[in-house]
Amino acid sequence: MTDATAALIPRLRTVVGEAGILTEAQDIAPFSQDWRGLYRGRAAAVVRPANAADLAAVIKLAGEAGVSVVPQGGNTSMVGGAVPADDGSEIVVSLSRMNRVRAVEPVDLTITVEAGVTLKAAQEAAAEAGCLLPLSIAAEGTAQIGGVLATNAGGNNTVRYGNARDLVLGLEVVLADGTVWNGLRKLRKDNTGYCLRQLFVGSEGTLGIITAAVLKLVPRPLETEVALCAVPSPEAALKLFTRLHQADPASVQAFEYMAGTGMGFVLRHIPGATMPLQAPSPHYALVELATPRVGAGLRAALEAALEAALDAEEITDAAIAESGAQRAAMWKLREEHAEAQKREGASVKNDVSVPVSRVPELIARASAACAALMPGIRVVPFGHFGDGNIHFNLEQPLDMPAAEFLARDHEIMDAVGAVVRDLDGSFSAEHGVGKLKPYMMPLWRGGAELWAMRQIKLALDPRGVLNPGKVLPPT
Ligand code: FAD
Ligand code: MLT
Ligand code: ZN
Repeated sequence: MTDATAALIPRLRTVVGEAGILTEAQDIAPFSQDWRGLYRGRAAAVVRPANAADLAAVIKLAGEAGVSVVPQGGNTSMVGGAVPADDGSEIVVSLSRMNRVRAVEPVDLTITVEAGVTLKAAQEAAAEAGCLLPLSIAAEGTAQIGGVLATNAGGNNTVRYGNARDLVLGLEVVLADGTVWNGLRKLRKDNTGYCLRQLFVGSEGTLGIITAAVLKLVPRPLETEVALCAVPSPEAALKLFTRLHQADPASVQAFEYMAGTGMGFVLRHIPGATMPLQAPSPHYALVELATPRVGAGLRAALEAALEAALDAEEITDAAIAESGAQRAAMWKLREEHAEAQKREGASVKNDVSVPVSRVPELIARASAACAALMPGIRVVPFGHFGDGNIHFNLEQPLDMPAAEFLARDHEIMDAVGAVVRDLDGSFSAEHGVGKLKPYMMPLWRGGAELWAMRQIKLALDPRGVLNPGKVLPPT
C-alpha cells in the first residue's frame, strides 16, 4: 500500500462508516481477482458506499489524494475489467449496497434501479409488474445493473431487443471530480445536446461511476417456445436462423449456437445437464420464440418451420420444450457453457462479432487458423449466432500444461483476430476491453477513433482517477 492510500483510508471511513469499508485481507480477496482467475490484484481497501452522495465524497477524497478507484459490480467481467492493480495502490468501490429497485412503471414501461441491483433482481421486479426487462446473460444472478451498463452487456436477447445501450433512458453518475450528475430521465424522445448517458454506457468504469439507471421494459411475452436443434453445420444453422427470422423477426427472441465440443463439456461437468436429443451432433442451435400477442399460434409456427428445416436438411433432429422445466433444462445446456469450459481447464476467449451472414466462414477459418498454430488445440465456438457474436473460445490441448497454453494467449487471440479483421468484424462484441485487450486498440481502433477516446477520457477524468489501465492502452 502506498503512503497516499494509507492516509486516505481513515478519511474514507469517516464518510462511509465501518459498514462501508473492508480492509482485512480475507474480506478484500474476493474483490481483488476476476471470475476467470486470470488476474490477481491487491486492493488497498474495498469501499461500499450506501448512496450516491457518499460515493461522491469518496471519489473527491480519492482524487485529492491521487489514489485511483476501480468500480466493481458483480465482478463477472470476462476481461479483468473490475480487478485492481497488484501493487496495493488502488481502492475498489463496490456498488453492492446500493441495491434498491426504486420504481417500476408499467404504463411508461420503465424501471428505475440502483446500480447494485443484480440483473436478475431487476428482471424479477419487472416480471412482478407484468413486464419484461429484455436483457439476459448467464451471469445475471451476480452481474449488477451498474456493471451491465458499464460494459454495454449483450447476451441472449440482443437479436430481438438490442444491447444494454438500447434499453437505457436515464442515468445517475458520479463523475471523476466527485460531482453527481442526475440524468435519471424517463423520456423516449430528448434531443438536447450530446447524449451523455450513452457516453457512460460501455465505458467500463473509466469515465464515471453509474449509481442508478432508468431502463426500458417491454410487455411480457404471453407465449414462449424453446427448441434445441441438431444442425449438421454452421451453414445449416445460418439457413435455419434466416428461415425463422424471415418468417417472423419479431418473435425470434434468441438464436444461440453451440459446437459439439462445448456441449460435451457441459454434459460432462455440469450436474443435472441432460441432452433431450437422441444422438450427439457436431453443432446445435437453441431457438427461443416469444410474443406478447394473445393466440399467436407460435407453437404451430415453430413446428412448421422445423419440419421444413428437416426436409431442407438444415437440421437433423429437434426437441421442443413441453413445459417451463424443459425450457429451463434446454437453456441450462447453453448457459453453463462458460462454467463447463472453466472446469475443463484453461481457456482463451475471443468474444468476436462479424456480420451474421459471415458466421460460418468465421468458424471455419478461425478453426483452421488455430489448428495450424497449435496442433491439438480444442475449438469451442458458441454464442449469440443471431447477432453475429460468437465466443470463439479455445481450450488447452490435452497434452499441454495450462501455463504453457495461457502464455500463448496473445498469439491465439491475434490468429483469430486476423480472420475477424478480414471479415470486417470486432475483437470484442460484448465483454469489453478491460485489462485483457487494451493492447489490441491501436490496431483495431487507432487513428482518429483512439485519439477521440483519449480526449474524452482527458476531459472527464483529467487526473486519471477512474479505472486506470483499462480500455485505453498506455500512451
Ligand atoms: P463487473 O465485472 O464488476 O465490472 C465490469 C466493468 O464495469 C469493469 O470495468 C468495472 O470497473 C465496471 N463497472 C462495474 N460497475 C460499475 C458502475 N456502477 N459504474 C461504472 N463502472 C462500473 N457478458 C455479456 O455481455 N453477455 C453474456 O452473455 C455474458 N455471459 C456471461 C456468462 C458468465 C458465466 C460470466 C461469468 C460472464 C458473462 N458475461 C457476459 C460477462 C459479464 O457478466 C458482463 O460483462 C456483465 O455486464 C458485468 O457485470 P458486473 O456487474 O459483474 O460487472
Ligand atoms: C456467454 O455468452 O455464455 C459468455 O458471454 C461466454 C463466454 O464464456 O465467453
Ligand atoms: Zn455471451
